[in-house]
Amino acid sequence: MENTPFYFYDLNVLDDTLNTVLNCTESDNFHIHYAIKANNNKKILEIIAAKGFGADCVSGWEIEASISAGFKPSSIAFAGVGKTDDEIAIALTNRIGMIHCESLEEILVINEMADSMNYIPKIALRLNPNVSALTHEKISTGLSENKFGLTVLEFAELVTIHPSLRNINIVGMHFHIGSQIIEMSVFEQLCERINEIVPQYENTIGKIEYLNVGGGLGVNYDNPDQGIIPEFEAYFDTFRWGLRKLNVPVHFELGRSIVAQCGSLHTKVLYVKKSESKNFAVLDAGMTELMRPALYGAKHKIEKLNQEDGLFGELTYDIVGPICESSDSFGSDVILPELRRGDILSIRSCGAYAESMSLRYNGRKEVGNNLKRQVNTSLRLVRTA
Ligand code: LLP
Repeated sequence: MENTPFYFYDLNVLDDTLNTVLNCTESDNFHIHYAIKANNNKKILEIIAAKGFGADCVSGWEIEASISAGFKPSSIAFAGVGKTDDEIAIALTNRIGMIHCESLEEILVINEMADSMNYIPKIALRLNPNVSALTHEKISTGLSENKFGLTVLEFAELVTIHPSLRNINIVGMHFHIGSQIIEMSVFEQLCERINEIVPQYENTIGKIEYLNVGGGLGVNYDNPDQGIIPEFEAYFDTFRWGLRKLNVPVHFELGRSIVAQCGSLHTKVLYVKKSESKNFAVLDAGMTELMRPALYGAKHKIEKLNQEDGLFGELTYDIVGPICESSDSFGSDVILPELRRGDILSIRSCGAYAESMSLRYNGRKEVGNNLKRQVNTSLRLVRTA
């Protein structure tokens, strides 16, 4: 049996997802940048780059990793509320396509550094549209109380000083209101706000040449098999209609929706134990391999991969990891076929924000991964012997 835990990636699902995105956007002036933070596994980056996607990066390391995986520097956007001088230098030296700026001070630093390099980078202003993403508060970013984006006060100051900033070219705007967004009405509202903000931008900064609407499309965690390919058609239709009056290229930064459903975390049951009120299944994977349940209370579907039936049919379990934290739990009262020591479980929808958020806490070893092309998705339920 393969060593567990490991991340399992079904590359056929990844291909189908990428092809769907390309089919949905080929006739538009839409450009898709994959948000590397969702999963920076080298092989996955190479596959996405080879399909012609751009990259959305949030650190100097991500810029370098995406270039070495084959993304064209001109198709790389660099975002982040706290870019260090070293990271800005990496972006400038590599002549990446766009820097998304989130504070006036950052814009001044970039202007000064670019001056010393004799270079004029393109920048876009990240603006906070004050739209509720109707998602978990910890992954909501577009409200005025969030730390992201230029504040209204800073925008006003920029308007007065921007003619003196000779080493930057301000070409457009960037928005990102949050993640795991399922309601298309949220994106409709974002479009409405963009339509209101564009005239203010054009009257003060200049003609808009670049519009980036961020990422955020959610996936079906409850029932991944019914949502292997996320709702890309409805998502892109919403922007096509909502932004129809603006004649400007639209850039997207999708992370989760591109990679979540191609990955799962395979883990072994170490021990089964009973208390007066509960059955616990203790796994060899924990919050160190999948932090989302501990951090956000997120629920991932859990399946037993080996099919032999136990004596009692289905039972109810608390599925927990080995880490010395009570929050190291993947779910309470999860109904599964009877579990025994050695059984293999698959925790689904782990292609996004699992491997890239893994930790070494408790002295945990880095876990491996297994990338395969499954001929048939039902094979996912076969024991990985
Ligand atoms: N663009 C920006 C500026 C972002 O901050 C993010 C995600 C994305 C694009 C990609 O968003 P996506 O399409 O993946 O929703 N760790 C959390 C998610 C944090 C998302 C952070 N920013 C989770 O596991 O749910």
